[in-house]
Order: sequence, then C-alpha cells, then structure tokens
Amino acid sequence: MRKPVIVGNWKMNLGPKEAKNLLTEVKALDLDNSVEYGFCVPSIDLLVAKEVLEGTNINYGAENMYFEESGAFTGEISPAMLTEVKATYVIIGHSERRQYFKEDNELINKKVISALEHGLTPILCVGETLEEREANKEEEVVKEEVVKGFEGIKEADKVIIAYEPIWAIGTGKTASAEDADSMCAYIRKLIEELYGKESAEKIRIQYGGSMKPSNVKELLAKENIDGGLIGGASLKASDFEQLVNFKK
Ligand code: 13P
Repeated sequence: MRKPVIVGNWKMNLGPKEAKNLLTEVKALDLDNSVEYGFCVPSIDLLVAKEVLEGTNINYGAENMYFEESGAFTGEISPAMLTEVKATYVIIGHSERRQYFKEDNELINKKVISALEHGLTPILCVGETLEEREANKEEEVVKEEVVKGFEGIKEADKVIIAYEPIWAIGTGKTASAEDADSMCAYIRKLIEELYGKESAEKIRIQYGGSMKPSNVKELLAKENIDGGLIGGASLKASDFEQLVNFKK
C-alpha cells in the first residue's frame, strides 16, 4: 500500500513573516497521519519552517536546488544546505523552472542524483504542454522526462514523481481524474520497464495542476494517483487541511 503524499508548493509566494503565520496555523490543525504531508517553500523561508515544524509530522523542503556541494554558483542553494535545515523534500524540474529558467532533462537528472545522495526526497516533475497534448504527444514528452530524469538512478522508489500537465497549472483547469490516472499509470509502466514490478508498485506518483478541496477526493480515489503537488490551494490553511484530510 502506498502512503498518500500531499505537498504544497508555495512557488514565489509568502515571505518569512507570512510563512510563519501559515505554518503556525497548519501546525494547530488536526491532520490525518495516515497521509504524508508537507510544504516546499521559498529558500528564504526554510529556517522559519525548521523553527515552526521541526519535530512535528509536517515535513518541509525546497522548491529547487543546485547539484554541486558548494562553490561559485551565485544565487543557488546546495543539497548540504538543505540537509542542514533538516529539509525532507526538494522539488526538481518543475515546469516553471523548465520554462522560465531553461532547465533541461540533463541538469534535472544531475539534481535528482545529488538530492538522493544527500538523503533528500526529490519530487521530480514531469508533464506536457497543451500543444503537446493536442498533438497527442503527451506520452512521448513524459517518457523522455522520466527516462532521462532517472538515468543512473538505482533506487527509483526513493523519488516521488509529480505528473503536472502544464495546461492545468494555475489555470483552474484540472485534468479529468481519468486522464490524470491514465498518465500516472503510463508513468508507472515506464518505471516497471526500467526497474521492475516491485519498484513500480512502490513508487509514489502525485498529480499536480489545480488540485483543490473540491476535486481531491475524486483524483485520489484513482488507483495510480498517490497524492498531490499543490500550488494555490497550499497557501490557505483551511484548503490544505481539506486536502490532507481527503479521506474524512
Ligand atoms: P496549482 O495547484 O496552483 O495549479 O499549481 C500546481 C503546481 O504547479 C504545483 O507544483
């Protein structure tokens, strides 16, 4: 049985003061501990996350990192910095990083490898654009992102994959539960081809793209969707509560 995993991605929202307020509010909630949950936050909020959440069931992590240990990489943060603040997750290869910061599969693969070497849980994002879906290329695009993203990785199930169709991110348009499930099933099949049945059964695959309290139950009822990577709805404690408590 795969444990569902619900992770907020704040993107470029909430400075330290707002972060502290929201995390303090979330800490006081009664959240379902049969679900794994947490937040990936802007790096400037990581110390606040540590201060408020260390020792609780609420995990936290970063939205990005560089793969090198240290050095002359102005503006970047390293995996060692993330482990120092006891981060659990790091999002790698979010479509916004691929699109606006020109991250490619090769760089993303280096980041996934480096995150695993440091004991972090990478959340590897994959997904197609609207044009790619309309041209029936969604499987081709996602296959390349998965195959290249996992190159050289031995323990596939230490990675969480987030399937995020780009056309569903921040648009209010959710993929239908059937389409989301069938893409997650396709990704699981790719993992089976690369790593065998056991890894495919263990690996957790999230859906991301306008997931919210009103559609979480339907999405997470699907066999191949093991959780959510949530943007907008992770910025409000009451929405996050309903997402984590989707079984109630
Ligand atoms: P929204 O939930 O705001 O659509 O964002 C999804 C996302 O990109 C999470 O990484």
